Amino acid sequence: MDDGKASLSPWDAWIAVCATAGAIHASADVVLDLSRASRVALDSFLSAMLFGDFLVRLRRAGGKDGTRSRRAGGLVGDLLAALPFALLLGPTPFQLLRLLKLSRVARLLGDWRSREVRHAAALRLAFFVYWFVLMTHVVACCWIALRGPEASPDGGSRYVRALYWAVTTLATVGYGDVTPSNDAQRIYAIVVMLLGVGTYGFVIGNVASILSNLDPGRASFLHRMEQLSAFMSYRSIPPDLQRRIGDYYRHVWRERLDHDETQLLERLPPGLRTAVALHLKRDLLQAVPFFRGASEPFLKEIALEMKPSLYPPGDIVVRAGDRGREMYFISRGSVEVVAPDGTTVRARLSAGDFFGEIALLYGTPRTATVRALEYCDLYRLEKELFDRVLAHHPEIATEIEARAKERRGEA
Ligand code: CMP
Repeated sequence: MDDGKASLSPWDAWIAVCATAGAIHASADVVLDLSRASRVALDSFLSAMLFGDFLVRLRRAGGKDGTRSRRAGGLVGDLLAALPFALLLGPTPFQLLRLLKLSRVARLLGDWRSREVRHAAALRLAFFVYWFVLMTHVVACCWIALRGPEASPDGGSRYVRALYWAVTTLATVGYGDVTPSNDAQRIYAIVVMLLGVGTYGFVIGNVASILSNLDPGRASFLHRMEQLSAFMSYRSIPPDLQRRIGDYYRHVWRERLDHDETQLLERLPPGLRTAVALHLKRDLLQAVPFFRGASEPFLKEIALEMKPSLYPPGDIVVRAGDRGREMYFISRGSVEVVAPDGTTVRARLSAGDFFGEIALLYGTPRTATVRALEYCDLYRLEKELFDRVLAHHPEIATEIEARAKERRGEA
């Protein structure tokens, strides 16, 4: 960032608009000799704005050191771009100094893009179109400049022809109906054609990457499905198993957009991690009765420690007779509790319920099998934290113990 500001202020946005208008007008005015009235009005207005920006930047730069030489270079450029050459001298190549201000626009847009996380792909596309349009305009103006004074007197149609030539050449279409009329234009055409090949590749590559990044969840889902499909056919996975795996991936994509919160949380600093964890688990924490009145520090600890897991329909979450290392809270979906005989269904539990506490409380093997009835979003609480919760929060311990006794038929 050139001035340490944290956001694109209305002034910065306005200056970006003025700098763009200045660059477009200056390059067109030099070659097309636009009307004097519009030149006087626009040039004085833009000069006033750009000079105002120069003063603002001068004041901002005043108290800071460190990057002083770079700042000084930027300020000289700003001052040159603000000078009203067109007003003082009429159409003159000095007007092109207005284009220096585009470096400020580039920095502002770069800052904006690096900070904006919500519409990253859309912004990238918009900035890309912006620079492409500006470049095409400048290429068209240079084409007119090289044609010489003998060209058609109508400025509008000269510009449209030049723009048409610039777009067809940059897009590598090149119909050949607008052709160079002198050596300077021929040499220029060679340069723009070479530039066009690079630009074309750049456009195709960027647009493809921007479009695929508009929905990264979908892109990574489709990529994973392709890998999966290749793997399954290579390893001759049975069709039924293939279908179940495919269903699982589709569900993960539809319901969670394939964003793994564990990975996201690990990359955040502690403060943000706690805030995001609390936000993600708030619904669950509010659905579980004994968490509702719990203190904020306790909820934060629980939110951070509870780990998500997803079970497809029919999957067994805990099996009767196994050793218990964690208990589960149901965030979404439902499960059935089946007695060790494998047939008697003791209960059906759904969002807000918990299970797996008996083995942790009494140190016994699992007293029942718990099976997912549909896709279930569960949060796991490891035994270590479970013991800590019970030790520090007697009211919660009492509730869990009461539920466990009831389930064991002791209540
Ligand atoms: P645990 O024994 O650790 O593992 C199986 C879990 O099923 C058990 O803890 C309880 O949470 C749950 N469970 C067992 N019996 C019942 C029941 N009758 N009603 C509801 N849940 C039960």
